[in-house]
Amino acid sequence: MNKIVIAIDGFSSTGKSTIAKRLANQLNYIYVDTGAMYRAVTYFALKNDFIKNKKLDSEALISSLEAINISFKFNDELGFAEVYLNGENIESEIRTLEVSSYVSPVATLSEVRRKLVEQQQLMGKGKGIVMDGRDIGTVVFPDAELKIFMTASAETRAKRRFKELLERGHNLSYDEVLENVTTRDRIDSTREDSPLVIADDAIEIDNSDLTIEEQVETILKLVNKAI
Ligand code: C5P
Repeated sequence: MNKIVIAIDGFSSTGKSTIAKRLANQLNYIYVDTGAMYRAVTYFALKNDFIKNKKLDSEALISSLEAINISFKFNDELGFAEVYLNGENIESEIRTLEVSSYVSPVATLSEVRRKLVEQQQLMGKGKGIVMDGRDIGTVVFPDAELKIFMTASAETRAKRRFKELLERGHNLSYDEVLENVTTRDRIDSTREDSPLVIADDAIEIDNSDLTIEEQVETILKLVNKAI
């Protein structure tokens, strides 16, 4: 069967990755979480003290970009690929509120974006890929055969992320999570390089009141039309 590129963009915590993983498993496609790549760069910046007293030293990070090697390795037990930074599995390290607080400023840097977008385009060369992020349908794969844009109210999204973080054992308040989600959306939507916007040919799905199964079913129908 004809393999396509499925681009899933949208605001923070809209459940893009959950849906993208399910789709990839059902279609036997590769799934790439591009947010994890920006988070990996942010984790690297924190580890190397390029973020101190809440300030990001952009120049230091940019001049160290060559030392950053991001890769993915499929975990059979989990059923998805985990992210590695220079050979180290950092899948859980990148999900902290600390990384979430700095990732959007890091993602405004054009040099960072250029490096990651190049890698993302290489990964999608052979098609048969589901990629989620903020600029997939607009910048990474403007010719993707199917583009989805996910939305949900900020409160719905913060509740989901809060529940997920609590389940992972993080100790934080709902208000902190809501603040992080809305701040990230503002930075992501207003940055100069590759802002989060809906591609003209994207199909918008508001999933506030949809179950995971309903979303997967809706998108699979769209995939069948696009193939
Ligand atoms: O998808 P996730 O919420 O993990 O993404 C973390 C952050 O990475 C986003 O808030 C955004 O700042 C950045 N990002 C981006 N472009 C992408 C994916 C993520 O700028 N394609």
